[in-house]
Amino acid sequence: MSSSNTPSSPVLKPLKLNSSGLGQSATSKEQPAPVSSKLQEPTLSTLKLSTPKPLSPKLSTSKLSPPKLNFTLGGSSSKNSSKLATPKLNFSLGETITKPNDIKSLKPAAWSPSTTPLVLVKRELETHDSMSFTFAAADQAQFDFKPGQFVTLAVNIDDKTHYRAYSISSVPQQKQLRLTIKRVPDGLVSNWLADNLSIGDSLSALNIAGQFNSTDCTHKSKLLLISAGCGITPVMSIAKTLLAQDSDADIEFLHCARDKDNVIFHDEMQTLLAQHKNFNVQLLLENSDGFASFSANTDNPSLSHQTGMVSSEVIQQLYPDLNQRTIFLCGPVGFMKAVENIAQESDFDMANFFQESFTPAADNTQQEQISSGATATSVMLHVPDFAVEAEVIQGSLLLDALEKHGVPVIGACRAGVCGSCKCKVTKGSVKSTSTETLTAAEIEQGFVLACSSTVEGDLAVALS
Ligand code: FES
Repeated sequence: MSSSNTPSSPVLKPLKLNSSGLGQSATSKEQPAPVSSKLQEPTLSTLKLSTPKPLSPKLSTSKLSPPKLNFTLGGSSSKNSSKLATPKLNFSLGETITKPNDIKSLKPAAWSPSTTPLVLVKRELETHDSMSFTFAAADQAQFDFKPGQFVTLAVNIDDKTHYRAYSISSVPQQKQLRLTIKRVPDGLVSNWLADNLSIGDSLSALNIAGQFNSTDCTHKSKLLLISAGCGITPVMSIAKTLLAQDSDADIEFLHCARDKDNVIFHDEMQTLLAQHKNFNVQLLLENSDGFASFSANTDNPSLSHQTGMVSSEVIQQLYPDLNQRTIFLCGPVGFMKAVENIAQESDFDMANFFQESFTPAADNTQQEQISSGATATSVMLHVPDFAVEAEVIQGSLLLDALEKHGVPVIGACRAGVCGSCKCKVTKGSVKSTSTETLTAAEIEQGFVLACSSTVEGDLAVALS
C-alpha cells in the first residue's frame, strides 16, 4: 500500500504510476506481472468452526427488500515444491464473544505474533486471481488491530524466509483473521500462498501495523470509501467495522474493478447492503461502455451512460456532498493519483483525505534508464557489518541491492509503509520516495526506507 495520511499530518506520500492499472494488487508488496495460473480451489477443511456472531446488534437495520449492488459501468475510470515446515494443528474455535459485558468479563487474550503462529482454517476463492485466507491463532487468541492495518507474514519457501505485508480484510476482536491476497505476476509469496497453503498449515507473523486505519485517522460520521482492485481489502475492514460499531456512520463505498467478475467481495457487499440502510455501494467497472446505477433501495435501477476513467464528473454525480465526507482511498497508484487530483480540484479539505497503496515502489529510475537505452553507471555499495562491498547500478532500489548481496534486510511491504526495511546511510546519499514511518530525528540521523530509496552514488549502509 504507499501513501497513507496520519491523523496529525495528512501529508501524501509520493505516488508512482504502474502499468498494471486496476489489475495490480494494491495490497501485496509483490512486483507486478501478468496473472499466471488460476488459483486452486479451496481444499477440504479438517477443522470444524463455529459460526461467529455479528459484532453488534446492527441487524435491526436490515432492509426488507432484497438488496442489489449499485453498478456504475463505465470506462472511467511455479509453484514451489517446498511445504511449510510447521506441522498441521488441529483444534476448534469457540464462539465469538459479542456482548459488551461478556467482553469485559471474558475477553480472550490478544494474539501475540511473536509467540503464536497463525493456522489456516479456511480458503475462499474471491475472483479468478484472488483468494481469502482465514487464520486462527494456535492458542485461540483474539485478533486486536485497527481496521485498515496489515499483518506481516513470514513465509518459508525453499528454506528461505520471505516477509510480506498483507492487508486484513476482517474486523477486529474476533478469533479469526482474514487476509485477501491477489496473485501478481512474479509475485513469489502471493502466488506461493495461493498454490501451497492448505487448511491446517501454520505461518509465523511479525506484527500488525499500519497508519492507514479508521481508528487513528480522525474521520467524520459521513465517509466515502474508495478502492480499486485488491485495494478493497483494508477498506472492507474499515466498512464492516464501522457498520458494526457506529450506527451514525453514513458510508458510501465506491469500488472500481476491471469488470464484474473481478469484483472482490461482491457477495459480501450485497449482504452488507441488506443489513445496513446507512451503507451504499457503487461499482465502477472499467470494461463496459455504459453507466448503470442500481440503487439498493429500489427495484427500478436508473441507467445513464459514462465513459472514461474515474473523473470529477463521476464523483460529483455520485457524491454531491463530497466535501462533507472523509475519504479513505486504497488502490493502484495511478488510480489513487487520479482520485487525489479530483479531490484537490473539488477544493476537498485534504485533512479529511487518507490513502494507502501497496503498489511496490518500483525502481523507476533504473527502468527509465533501460527504456531510454541510457548506459548504466556502477557505484559501490558498502555494508561493513556484513562484509559487503559490491558494485550496483546507479538508480537501483536499495532494498534490491541489499537483498542481492545477502544483507538480511526485511522488506515486508516493499512500498514504504511498514518500516521493516529501515536502515541507516552512513556515507553517501539516496533518493527516497517515502519516509513515512521515520521520525524527524531518524531522518536527521540518516535513516531511510530501503524499499523506497534508490542508490545515487557510492554508499555505505548499516542495518541499525
Ligand atoms: S519494506 Fe515496508 S517500509 Fe520498506
